[in-house]
Amino acid sequence: MIKKDIQILNPDIKNDPTHEMALSVLEGLSSRPKSLPSLLFYDDKGSELFKKIMQLDEYYPTRCEAEILQKYSQDITSFVSGEKFNLVELGCGDGAKTILLLNTLLKEKREFNYVPLDISKAAVEFLLGNLEKEYGPIPFDVLGLVAEYFQGLGWLTENASERNMVLFLGSNIGNFNRPTALRFLRHLWHSLNDGDLVLIGFDLKKDLDVLYDAYNDKEGITKEFNFNVLDRINDLLKGNFKRENFQHQGLYNIQTGAMESYLISQCQHTVTIDEVGKSFKFEAWEAIHMEYSYKYLQSDIDSLASSTGFKILKNYTDSNGYFIDSLWTVCK
Ligand code: TRP
Repeated sequence: MIKKDIQILNPDIKNDPTHEMALSVLEGLSSRPKSLPSLLFYDDKGSELFKKIMQLDEYYPTRCEAEILQKYSQDITSFVSGEKFNLVELGCGDGAKTILLLNTLLKEKREFNYVPLDISKAAVEFLLGNLEKEYGPIPFDVLGLVAEYFQGLGWLTENASERNMVLFLGSNIGNFNRPTALRFLRHLWHSLNDGDLVLIGFDLKKDLDVLYDAYNDKEGITKEFNFNVLDRINDLLKGNFKRENFQHQGLYNIQTGAMESYLISQCQHTVTIDEVGKSFKFEAWEAIHMEYSYKYLQSDIDSLASSTGFKILKNYTDSNGYFIDSLWTVCK
């Protein structure tokens, strides 16, 4: 008998999202350099634009990881042979990449619970809808968790005895700087049991032209994706950002090893945001920092794992050597 359930662990995390957003916009635009919270990228329009980015010729990470999961899903899942386990996905996208793993598990008649975990109920429901499109009735046990990551993992290890394999795919970890990545991974270690597994996507350092093109595509979709954040602030917080006052630029920072997205003010002007209750002055050529995407060396991955209590079981890479899905086990 297949079980399907969605557990909502914190229905009222952000009970006034507009107020929360106004606070983080105030904080960002009051910083030097100015910045905007990257959370603002992913509304419905932003998610649509990101799907388009993933299909661009220049944007290699999605294709690289799909190639890895296509080729190695059998090998990856063989590390949890035998017993029933939880396949936990942190932050669910549309499930397209996970389906590659799920199909292998189905083919091998493995027993597992699929546990998509996301702060947004809509995201979990959207993912389940996509699985239904793929399979008709979903042919395995699903437990959707609507919670913050560590709250969800804590709940899971308390309420379920199965071994866990946690997926943190895409270049999600790339949004964290090194101290934040260390903190995140140590927190992950803490929420899991000895012998649990994690599979983490790392985008590797590579030819700078390849990096540059991936974040400055010819069609301008990445530019649209950044401008959408300004449109959202205009809509939700009653702002008066004008797109034509800004240019978009993705830059590689050799010092920090990150691709950084900026919107740069091309003239001196002032932006008023009513819901924040404040105006913000821009000088000509003053930048708003939008996003970091840290790129890794193999040695960075090794040191992150060993500093946070994990052992690397295996690194899976694509044929270009652009991306690694690294399989780790929790050592306690
Ligand atoms: N953060 C993701 C990445 O680094 C998604 C992304 C691609 C992105 N292009 C972007 C985020 C431009 C902000 C701006 O791949």
